[in-house]
Amino acid sequence: MLSSPDRNFVGVAGDARDQDNGRVMTGVGSLTKGETKGVGETPDESSQSYCLQSLEQELSWASHLGVYGIILPSPPNSCELFAAALSRIGLGSICTTQLMVRIPLLRQVDGAEVDGWNSWNALRLLCDQNPRLQVCLELTEDLPETDRELHRWLAEPVRSVIIPTDAFLTNKQGFPVLSKRHKAFLLQLFRNKVQVILQGLPEGAKETETEKYLHYVARLFQSRPAPTAQEQFETPYHDWLQAPLQPLQDNLESQTYETFEKDPVKYVQYEEAIHRCLQDKLAAGKKQLVAMVVGAGRGPLVVAVRSAAVRAGAQVKIWAVEKNPNAVVTLRHRCAVEEWTNVEVIGEDMRFWDAPRKADLIVSELLGSFGDNELSPECLDGAQRFLEPDGACIPSKYTSSLTPVTTHKLWNDVKNYNDLAHFETAYVVKFHQAFYPTSQVEKCFEFSHPNWELSSNDRYAQIEFTSEVDALVHGFAGYFHCELYAGLSVSINPESYSEGMFSWFPIYFPLRTPVNLKRGEKLTSSGRPAW
Ligand SMILES: C[S@@+](CC[C@H](N)C(=O)[O-])C[C@H]1O[C@@H](n2cnc3c(N)ncnc32)[C@H](O)[C@@H]1O
Repeated sequence: MLSSPDRNFVGVAGDARDQDNGRVMTGVGSLTKGETKGVGETPDESSQSYCLQSLEQELSWASHLGVYGIILPSPPNSCELFAAALSRIGLGSICTTQLMVRIPLLRQVDGAEVDGWNSWNALRLLCDQNPRLQVCLELTEDLPETDRELHRWLAEPVRSVIIPTDAFLTNKQGFPVLSKRHKAFLLQLFRNKVQVILQGLPEGAKETETEKYLHYVARLFQSRPAPTAQEQFETPYHDWLQAPLQPLQDNLESQTYETFEKDPVKYVQYEEAIHRCLQDKLAAGKKQLVAMVVGAGRGPLVVAVRSAAVRAGAQVKIWAVEKNPNAVVTLRHRCAVEEWTNVEVIGEDMRFWDAPRKADLIVSELLGSFGDNELSPECLDGAQRFLEPDGACIPSKYTSSLTPVTTHKLWNDVKNYNDLAHFETAYVVKFHQAFYPTSQVEKCFEFSHPNWELSSNDRYAQIEFTSEVDALVHGFAGYFHCELYAGLSVSINPESYSEGMFSWFPIYFPLRTPVNLKRGEKLTSSGRPAW
């Protein structure tokens, strides 16, 4: 039924077949649609032990054959025994094959419609969130009421999707089609590389009949828009934990600077902000202006100041201050080759440099994904000694913000390090298989420059969030919004995101123990103050 692990694949569900590698077995005997009897619901001990034995046998056989995956039946309502059996046999060493548990989007329990996500959540918690336990999601005719409930699945390890033929409608031409909502959801699942299994084609159906369904799903898959340049850049980073850069402690590599410099938004915004600031200085009667670019890297902000000065018709003397001796080589080279006659390069730490005169403008880009996490406020507080009393800083202000996040994969990646230190680390992450249980993105810390009073950069915040659905929270996603000058900004906060900018991914603060929330329940983030 299924094939290569890295491609979306459309197949037709039939009996369990075990001859070929790359196939899928449906586990624990053969099941019909909707049937939920399994290891967990067997009435007496002898049949329970019989079921366990057959599960063990089938899993071991599947492992032996090296099948691509095994689909287990839906867990029963109370799934403790089911989970115990899986943990003991399936998720242990016996079985090396992927285990997918079949979960219908909605299921009937005692005449009421129940969201399948809750059964999945209960099962995976009982299985200690074992990453080998995955989902074979069954689309049902009716879908969960809200898109937020549906989107929860996009953060789950959904490996395959069963589309029963009765989830299809028939269009005017007599062809099977999916409803708008089913279609949109399936398209979103395709982004997570799911494989598709069609189920319920009548026995002995003509090939053409089967092809109608296959073609429909294949056409839908092909209709996905081509990835944008930004998506192409970001794809290799999806759901990978990266240690945040430490540009003060470490010297960045040339390649890292080169990646930033390709950002199509950041430098445009900076140049515009610098231009406005220079215009304001000229309007205030200043003639010879001084700009200091602190943390100049390989020079893109020096170029931005020079271009803005030409546009504003301003005479600007520029000092480019950089503590990375390797980047200083590039700055000096550019200064000579590109004839930056109004630029002086200083190879020093901005906090200790003895500036020859004061600046009308200090330009920097020292921001981490959470605003202050690359020591921007501390470095700029050290540099403001050489700012004129009426001088301006670009950026002038940045604000970090937080929202709870469900991210099964990333949390498991942190857990795999098997130590506390990794749970107490923040990671830069391009979230992909992630879900946000609330639409709240709440402000956390704010820093302004200049900070003439040198007020402390220690911060403490306690923020309350209300979950809009039942959800399992694995941590917080963090962002920044940065005011450059006069309303111009750069931002990775989803509420004010600078479209097309790729210099920063969000930050992920993992929780040591995920929090299981019911709709309407509150979650409070509270860091322990360091003092
Ligand atoms: C994120 S990079 C930005 C570089 C450049 N402005 C750009 O946009 O490509 C930050 C730069 O600041 C430099 N830096 C960090 N702390 C510094 C300090 N205290 N004094 C001087 N340079 C510093 C780093 O070496 C790095 O080159």
